[in-house]
Amino acid sequence: MSRSMIRIKGTLLLSDHKNSIARAARIIRRGGLVAFPTETVYGLGASATDTEAVKKIFTAKGRPPDNPLIVHLSDQKQLRSVAREIPDTAYLLIEKYWPGPLSLVLQRSENISEVVSAGLPTVAVRMPDHRVALNLIRLSRVPIAAPSANWSGRPSPTDFRHVLEDLSGRIDAVIKSNVCAIGVESTVLDLTGSEPVILRPGGLSRERLEETLGCHIRLAGSGANIEQPSSPGMRYRHYSPLAPLILVTGAINRRRRLLNSLACHYNRKGFVVGMLNFTKQPNFSPEIEAGLLAAKLFQTLRQLDARKVDLILAEETETAGLGLAVMNRLRKAAARTIKV
Ligand code: TXA
Ligand code: MG
Repeated sequence: MSRSMIRIKGTLLLSDHKNSIARAARIIRRGGLVAFPTETVYGLGASATDTEAVKKIFTAKGRPPDNPLIVHLSDQKQLRSVAREIPDTAYLLIEKYWPGPLSLVLQRSENISEVVSAGLPTVAVRMPDHRVALNLIRLSRVPIAAPSANWSGRPSPTDFRHVLEDLSGRIDAVIKSNVCAIGVESTVLDLTGSEPVILRPGGLSRERLEETLGCHIRLAGSGANIEQPSSPGMRYRHYSPLAPLILVTGAINRRRRLLNSLACHYNRKGFVVGMLNFTKQPNFSPEIEAGLLAAKLFQTLRQLDARKVDLILAEETETAGLGLAVMNRLRKAAARTIKV
């Protein structure tokens, strides 16, 4: 058996060479599920035009059926077959940020199964900035619907091993490739209303979007709409490691003091405590710092699980740049948030 034919509990482990990607594309075309790398996190792909295939994604992940999926393209020309009534703002952003970590919510075209959008009249669409993902979509000759390739509620996978931890035996194949450099999912921007709204902060910062559009961009679920779930996926607890995570927020001195005393308290009780340590590097700007944190966040949560810690303590970080996405994920992962 060649190395590209290894199976783990029935899930085919493919290399990222051209022939293996072509094989993965055939699986997609025949209605199967393939996990593939993107620049953000691993996605679990199926043909976006095949309702039965898309339904399998929800089953494989244990995903609630009312949480819509993102459609992935390899070529701008595919956009018109996925979405309609595309505003000029979309083209402006696409020119600048595709391929890249920006998903745009637009009016859905009838070619796309409504199961993809969980019955919504809209569709989220993006072009990933990763050679393997782009080749897979191109060779499949269909847009690919893909959520993150984790068991629903778990931290998103940034490595093929994370995908296998959660989904081996539940999906047809996973493509083994280099790690996902950004480490948090794409920014989801809704362009269907009177003004653009960020539904999920992610790999493209709010500051860059505001600079491009020349206006303030509202973050859904903040301000006056704090009670409203921003995008359907934001309703659920998410990104959770197995051990409970306690997030400590507030003034830096007070929160550090509390973190230290919590660590001592639980250590004395015999707990193995994992720390998500956001110690500042000298000379790094908050933006660079946040990018490094984002790249390691999900991977670190999974490593702490592997070390079988009983408890994870995490500290608030600044929300500049990708820090907004990091804090969003931490808040959703937290079993408890303590503000001091
Ligand atoms: O970076 C990413 O976005 C990764 C990679 C694989 O591309 N994908 C990803 O997908 O994170 P998922 O399913 O884990 O998250 C999709 C998010 C959810 O919060 C979902 O509710 C939202 O996008 N979403 C999808 N379609 C939507 C729509 N039509 N309207 C509003 N929100 C939508
Ligand atoms: Mg996800």
